[in-house]
Amino acid sequence: MDDNGVPAKGPLNALVARGLTKTYGKGDARVTAVDHVDLTIPAGRLTAVMGPSGSGKTTLVHLLAGLDRPDSGEVWVGDDEITALKDKQLAKVRGRIVGFVFQGFNLLQTMTARDNILLPLRLNGIERDDEWMNSLVDMLGIGRELDRKPFEMSGGQQQRVAIARALITRPQIVLADEPTGNLDTHASAEILAHLRQSCRELGQSVVMVTHDPTAASYAGTVLLFANGRVDGHITDPTPEAVLAGLDALSGGQR
Ligand SMILES: Nc1ncnc2c1ncn2[C@@H]1O[C@H](COP(=O)(O)OP(=O)(O)OP(=O)(O)O)[C@@H](O)[C@H]1O
Ligand SMILES: [Mg+2]
Repeated sequence: MDDNGVPAKGPLNALVARGLTKTYGKGDARVTAVDHVDLTIPAGRLTAVMGPSGSGKTTLVHLLAGLDRPDSGEVWVGDDEITALKDKQLAKVRGRIVGFVFQGFNLLQTMTARDNILLPLRLNGIERDDEWMNSLVDMLGIGRELDRKPFEMSGGQQQRVAIARALITRPQIVLADEPTGNLDTHASAEILAHLRQSCRELGQSVVMVTHDPTAASYAGTVLLFANGRVDGHITDPTPEAVLAGLDALSGGQR
């Protein structure tokens, strides 16, 4: 068993981290953003990561996605240890297996929403599936934004385009850093229901960082993160249980 109470490594594990550590800065300014984290994210489950601002959640999901290299420790995606891969091979795994929603969206400002969404297909030589594109556009309600550039869209519209870009390749693993932080209740509920459904029906794994207890209650498991470490987990969470878990975290802060 590891930090989130799931049996270690097996065929159903989408993502495994062992001893994952990342520090920033030197001397007095040194921060251990992720501190010897052991983690197993099962396939077919929606996992939420919650914890105080600055506790290391973004750093963790960047390491899990191979967007950043740890100082030490391993990340396994299925049978591949991505921390052992060279940049080129890593980019291949990332492009085909992992979809990422960035906290700040990271859309390309010179491209339309449509081209932003389709970019992962072009970069990875994956054929376009118009039916899937249309169903994502419908689900996310961004039909009218497709010809606009990011600076012509609201924050919530940009966020939904960023979600479409992460899902367009039908990735096995979706890592999403506060994917509903800019959305209204209705849009959030629809997207969360979709993510949960694709975990159940397609065996996708979704790891979602969120500050919202209602969003977290869509997850099968909530990992409570504090000071760079997994500080507890809640299975089949309700918003009330999530709030109580956050209150009980080290230091009692959110
Ligand atoms: N590039 C960087 N250089 C130096 N320090 C960094 C860098 N990125 C993050 N940090 C520090 O690492 C710690 C964890 O940051 P991180 O962004 O992972 O937190 P977070 O839990 O995602 O916070 P939030 O909820 O505010 O998004 C913080 O103390 C932050 O200041
Ligand atoms: Mg963050």
